Amino acid sequence: RKGGFQHYMLKEIFEQPDAFANTLSVVKRCNEFIDQIRNAHSVTVVACGTSANASMVFSYLMERVCHIPTRVVLGSEFKYFPTPGTDLVIGVSQSGETADTIAALKLAKNLGAQTLAVTNVLGSSITRVASSVLYTRAGPEISVAATKSFISQVAAFMQITNLLSDHQIEFELAEIRRYLPDVLSLDLSKAVELCTAADTLLYIGRGMFYPVAMEGALKMKEISYIHAEGYAAGELKHGPFALLSPETPVIGMCFPDAVYPVMMSNLKEIKARSAPLIALGRKDDKDLDEVADVCISLPAVSEYGAVVLSSVILQQLAYHTAVALGRDVDMPRNLAKSVTVE
Ligand code: M6R
Repeated sequence: RKGGFQHYMLKEIFEQPDAFANTLSVVKRCNEFIDQIRNAHSVTVVACGTSANASMVFSYLMERVCHIPTRVVLGSEFKYFPTPGTDLVIGVSQSGETADTIAALKLAKNLGAQTLAVTNVLGSSITRVASSVLYTRAGPEISVAATKSFISQVAAFMQITNLLSDHQIEFELAEIRRYLPDVLSLDLSKAVELCTAADTLLYIGRGMFYPVAMEGALKMKEISYIHAEGYAAGELKHGPFALLSPETPVIGMCFPDAVYPVMMSNLKEIKARSAPLIALGRKDDKDLDEVADVCISLPAVSEYGAVVLSSVILQQLAYHTAVALGRDVDMPRNLAKSVTVE
């Protein structure tokens, strides 16, 4: 059942090119769902864990490309500030069974908001709360760590943005499909070596790479049990800098986009404090090569492409680190695939 893979997680990582492509085509047919977003004045997304990280990517896309104010609220926190003015609330849940997300969506409905759901599981509980449902159709995900469901959610959000916006991103979506298979078997051994020796890891990024950093850190702590935090790179100076030491590797994402210069200067500041630096960047970036201890090179893709490809690489970094440490990758301690209590 694992299709020749050692773990479900690895199998599911390898299923991501298909999952990404499937979701892109499914969303194209969801006209009613897309129209409801198009007509919204503002959107609140409620989700937990990995689904919340994918939703944060969505909020960046919605604000930047579609100019629709979009906030993400954790399912468990929504009841403490359910802004009455929000006209559309979207619940995002792979399983469709997460109690906090469902409770948030029910509350939103009771407050008069229009409710939508994004889920991977047909007929799951969340589909009975929302007035309209978008199925990501990533296929069954067995491993507790979400991988292909995250990539499918991001695919759905990128396709929604594409269909809503005047500035379509068809080229970028095709490019991601083209390059996804290429990043499934990179040699990450040097980065894994640094991670297995660490007590704490910091993941940093700016813009859409901030949720990518949070998701990378979540995956790492969930299956390797190494303490990991995802930060917006600009926040480092506001506290986390105190953690930097030769025993605290930092994983930074730095691509030639608008934030490259400021990201590069953050990375140099980190190096100046002797923290080992693992950088994800574009191949042939000599400056990045010079500053980083380990450089993980991605093909020359757009920012959207780098968001997806980096996420897939960080899943593998977590996976190989957990395997090297002898962890129970598919069934990490204390965790369940669906959290059905609030
Ligand atoms: O099924 P859901 O997407 O609602 O699950 C939410 C979280 O419990 C889930 O994403 C969790 O964070 C993952 N195990 C992380 O890999």
